[in-house]
Amino acid sequence: MIEKINGNKKIYGILGYPIKHTLSPKMQNAAFLETNIDAIYLPFLVNPENISKALDGIRSLNISGFNVTIPHKTTVIEFLDEISPIAKIVGAVNTVKNFNGRLIGTNTDVWGFIRSLELLKFNPFNKKIGILGAGGSSRALLAGLSEKGASEILICNRTKEKAERLEIEFSKIYPKTKIKAVSIEKIEVSYLDLLANTTSVGMHRDESLIDLSLSNNKKNVIDIIYNPPRTKLLRQAENLNIPNLNGLYMLLYQGCEAFEFWTNLDAPEHIMKKQLLKLIN
Ligand code: ATR
Repeated sequence: MIEKINGNKKIYGILGYPIKHTLSPKMQNAAFLETNIDAIYLPFLVNPENISKALDGIRSLNISGFNVTIPHKTTVIEFLDEISPIAKIVGAVNTVKNFNGRLIGTNTDVWGFIRSLELLKFNPFNKKIGILGAGGSSRALLAGLSEKGASEILICNRTKEKAERLEIEFSKIYPKTKIKAVSIEKIEVSYLDLLANTTSVGMHRDESLIDLSLSNNKKNVIDIIYNPPRTKLLRQAENLNIPNLNGLYMLLYQGCEAFEFWTNLDAPEHIMKKQLLKLIN
């Protein structure tokens, strides 16, 4: 390890608060090693009040690129030189590259999610989708699915006003997709081609917002939670033989997309996946 650190090494990292539990360093360092890129990826604990100083530090130290996680995904934007159109729509940045001193942000959660749909052989074009939740992850899914031509998206949230605000905001950006806020009792799962949970329900307690057994003809279910790997919602889907997926692949592919944004190389997906699986199991 020590002999490999010299003046050529590029530095990448992730800014978050807390940061202890991040899985990204293992995944990205494995990717650098596999592709023979002379770089290292480090965790940075950045208190929210220091985010602007952290960005000054990144510029001064010429750090090559970084990920941004909770709680900085939105607040970081004002300190960047440029953000991609999709990050602007989502209102959040999770990946930044330092391009000759200019910090350019994007949102790879969006494409990470969309890429993960391939595992279900699901193409969002012309499909009807239900999203549970109206927070940051919900915005990423809404943007990605609308970009890919979903015909209808129903947003269902405990605080209905938040879903209604998303309806208004995203309907303006994506007039071709019918976007509607609905209450959970109104969600008719059999009407949907895909149901995606973006809430934290199922993460800390074994709970689910929806009982899938109440309707027939269910097609696809995603829970973006990856820990635990099988939430109550996904176990129920499995028992009912409904194709389903957890958030591990969204996490993997947002990492692959970030790697590709930084290096312009294809990410070594299998190695990155192996690292993630090792950490989670
Ligand atoms: P993220 O960025 O991961 O989307 P977030 O922005 O904090 O996280 O959003 C969390 C989502 O989970 C919200 O939609 C939240 O609903 P509210 O807007 O009503 O707060 C939803 N959520 C969290 N706990 C919930 C619970 N016990 N029941 C229903 N929804 C819940």
